[in-house]
Amino acid sequence: MNDRLKTIVDLEKYPIQDLNSPKIKEIINKCKTELDQFSCSTIPNFILPKSLKIMNVELEKQVDKVYMSKESINPYLHSIDESSLGKDHPKKIFSKRYNGYLNSDLFDKNSEMKFLYEQKELLNFVSACVGISPIYRWADPLACHAYNVMKPDGILPWHFDSCEFTLSIMIQKPEKGGIFEYCPYIREPGNENFEEVKKVLDGDRKRVRQLKLEPGDLQIFKGRFTLHRVTKVEGNRSRYLCIPAYVLDPWRVNTPEHSRAIYGKVLPIHLERNKPRADGLAD
Ligand SMILES: [Fe+2]
Repeated sequence: MNDRLKTIVDLEKYPIQDLNSPKIKEIINKCKTELDQFSCSTIPNFILPKSLKIMNVELEKQVDKVYMSKESINPYLHSIDESSLGKDHPKKIFSKRYNGYLNSDLFDKNSEMKFLYEQKELLNFVSACVGISPIYRWADPLACHAYNVMKPDGILPWHFDSCEFTLSIMIQKPEKGGIFEYCPYIREPGNENFEEVKKVLDGDRKRVRQLKLEPGDLQIFKGRFTLHRVTKVEGNRSRYLCIPAYVLDPWRVNTPEHSRAIYGKVLPIHLERNKPRADGLAD
């Protein structure tokens, strides 16, 4: 293990460097149960306060490079209308979005977040929690461990992620709002379940759960199968999150359309690897 890891993660509480320790086994079991049931699990105070400050500073130092987008999107992260569908289809429903990312390719070589993402201890811990091995770090050079920025009035409408396993580390909470809401397992490989997705878009709250995340907490989340959103950020303080992501396919990256709409640019790798997904789901 690299010594720097113990300055970032609270290894006394969460010894992810030793997955055989009874302490971490208990945490993994709890996470796995919650993930199986609710597609989401939270590990409180995973990141040490000092490291959290470093992450906050490294983001604020580059906050002018954050790509802020106000493009409306549908739940599949498209900003372009697929006109052959009926007007009630979820793919035709576009909602207001005001949200930004500090893309992963802009991180310093020595970045705290980048370092954490590259540690095999974190990868193996997440793999144990989701109960799938192997999983991989995401090959997308812009999205793999981006910082998410939601300024006052920021909003992220209902959507699915394109990666299977999304981590969220809360860096800075807004004064009010900015609440994460999700509908566990509303779709699955081979079944989009458009009818139920439409109900949620229309305001049905039956499936909706809320998650409270405090600075330093780690959330593990199956965002590809779970419709989710972040409510409007209220007050003067921005909401900062870092979002390291893991995938089942080490080759795949975001589609060119998705990368352009969300991360503000398309790289050659997005065009070269733009092939249909094996799970048959839209993204
Ligand atoms: Fe998401």
